[in-house]
Amino acid sequence: MTSPITTEIHDDILVIISNNPPVNALGAAVRQGLAAGIAQGLADPAIKAMVIRCDGRTFFAGADITEFGKPMEEPGLPAVVDQIEASTKPVVAAIHGTALGGGCEVTLGCHYRIAVPSAKIGTPEVKLGLLPGAGGTQRIPRIAGVSLALEMTAKGDPISARKALDAGLIDRLAGEDSLAADAIAFAREIAAVQPLPRASEKAATADPDAVAAFKKENARKFRGFDAPAANIACVEKAADGSSFAEGIAFEREQFMKLMMGVQSAAQRHIFFAERQAAKIDGIAADIALRPINKVGVIGAGTMGGGISMNFLSAGIPVTIVEMAQDALDRGTGVIRKNYEASAAKGRLKPEQVEQAMGALTPTLDFNALADCDLIIEAVYEEMSVKKEIFARLDAIAKPGAILASNTSYLNVDEIATATSRPGDVLGMHFFSPANVMKLLEVVRGAKTADDVLATVMALAKKIKKVAVVAGVCDGFIGNRMLKPRQVEAMKLLMEGATPEQIDRVHVDFGMPMGPFQMSDLAGVDIGWHRDPTRIENIRDALAAEGRWGQKKQAGFYDYDEKRNPTPSPRVAEIIEDFRSKSNLQKREISDQEIIEKTLYTMVNEGALILEEKMAQRASDIDVVWIYGYGWPVYRGGPMFWADTEGLAKIVGGLEKHGFQVAGLLKSKAENGGGFNK
Ligand code: 3HC
Repeated sequence: MTSPITTEIHDDILVIISNNPPVNALGAAVRQGLAAGIAQGLADPAIKAMVIRCDGRTFFAGADITEFGKPMEEPGLPAVVDQIEASTKPVVAAIHGTALGGGCEVTLGCHYRIAVPSAKIGTPEVKLGLLPGAGGTQRIPRIAGVSLALEMTAKGDPISARKALDAGLIDRLAGEDSLAADAIAFAREIAAVQPLPRASEKAATADPDAVAAFKKENARKFRGFDAPAANIACVEKAADGSSFAEGIAFEREQFMKLMMGVQSAAQRHIFFAERQAAKIDGIAADIALRPINKVGVIGAGTMGGGISMNFLSAGIPVTIVEMAQDALDRGTGVIRKNYEASAAKGRLKPEQVEQAMGALTPTLDFNALADCDLIIEAVYEEMSVKKEIFARLDAIAKPGAILASNTSYLNVDEIATATSRPGDVLGMHFFSPANVMKLLEVVRGAKTADDVLATVMALAKKIKKVAVVAGVCDGFIGNRMLKPRQVEAMKLLMEGATPEQIDRVHVDFGMPMGPFQMSDLAGVDIGWHRDPTRIENIRDALAAEGRWGQKKQAGFYDYDEKRNPTPSPRVAEIIEDFRSKSNLQKREISDQEIIEKTLYTMVNEGALILEEKMAQRASDIDVVWIYGYGWPVYRGGPMFWADTEGLAKIVGGLEKHGFQVAGLLKSKAENGGGFNK
């Protein structure tokens, strides 16, 4: 096998080049090639300095994650980085694209760094439940100080080349198109420098105040995660007077602990699951896509407005249609307000706001949708209304236009029957707020054409969504699984649990909120207005009393003006009332029972979804729950979590409470398998 590493001699400079598509991950062959390249440069008396650069779209984007969990082939990355640093001839890193993780650490082993202005440098390991384990936690603080090291390692967001230049993480900017030549020139310039600057020989200054402030500022973001604290501890170690070798030993110990842990396994699972979700089984990756240059949105309410923003932000013009001028004005006003708020926070430039707004055409004329390539309906969830709209669309949309419904549970096949072109119809289920939430469920109807599905999946990536293919069933993947959780949570109230207890169990598990906090946020009155005389359950009773949730400062909780919740004595009374009417005895409910009834049942529903082929793969279900509902990423999604919990235990818990266990779940449990094994 040929090595992904080649070398070129340019007079007195040796250039070591990696070509390991797609992202130049630092797999074993690359590490071996790098080590050999450095040795070659040292052995050749004609060579005065060396350059390490990469071909393709990026500098090394990190260690090869697919090697994790397997026996490590020599040399390990830390040894390669040390070997580079120990070189007696200067080594220059020439950076383009993203120098991430181990890639960033390779640059820190180099004595000098040059980067194109568009390059990004970072250590995102924390997002995989890890830390930079090839000396990054010890070298970054020594070069750039403790504060930036904390930001880079414990939060994991990459920084721009310019910021890296200011921080000393790179020494020079190259021309955007002349990196290879500029790096050689730079190497020649510094070829005679002695002693060579080595990060390991520098000292970092301790900054306990910065560490304390950083921890406090990010406490909420880091809640439940192991890796941020380990990153922080390593950075502190770099500046506490310990030697570099002691710091490295500490880093290694922490790295191995994280690597063996279930959180990192979960986060790595999600990294690959997210990328896998974009692939559609049975459709060729190179299928010809339909061009989408103009999008129509029907409905300028909260969803329609949020949906439009995704396309406007990606530079795709949007025609938005409403029935009445005031609703249209309100909708466009909200879009503008949202953009201006982003600009006020410095996330957008004022001209970008105008650019986005300039690409929006608000209209009352339905016929204005005639030239759109994709039209998304985002109106009231009522089958008759949807069918009427799709029949009208059928009459005016141009041939080949994709017709999508943003329904969150209705039957897309039935909606498609209102048209003469069911092949062009599918569901695009955005999550609220649609301009923020990453998840998009793309609902494939029985007759949806392959190129229509593939086009929408590709478009999703363009508008920065994580898209998952779902089949036609009530609630698709996410809302279908939400149902048993909500139903069981309500039953538990009747049997003696309180909203506070159930929500606490969910929050302790790592969810952003529990089922009742979620009801209060979404609106307890959802669905109730259709028949306000109906009081069949606790929820109806709350709605009938005007306890519609946060918007009324009363729902399952009482709220103050700042929306801080407190347990509600009135809700306790209502629950008690229903309980006595149903002749139920109040009993002690354990936290474990709450987990079994509200989370095991979700896993069971997930298994049914897989059985019915409503999801392509278990990992897609995990992606839905991570990106759509805030399932804690360190638990890897419900199906991954089920594997870690043990399927036999899940089946046992479900059977104990009399639930019917899905066949797939049962058989996997009996075979000792798992959803992601
Ligand atoms: N190892 C193995 N495969 C990787 C990889 C890595 N580090 N990074 C990306 N890939 C794969 C992806 O799985 C994907 O494969 P697929 O085509 O088969 O689905 C392919 O490369 C392309 O990746 P993306 O679709 O993500 O491409 P983008 O252009 O959108 O993004 C990127 C490129 C920004 C580099 C992004 O891939 C990324 O963020 N990668 C991970 C970076 C990272 O986390 N690095 C740290 C690794 S851990 C480490 O270095 C430990 C060390 O400290 C010891």
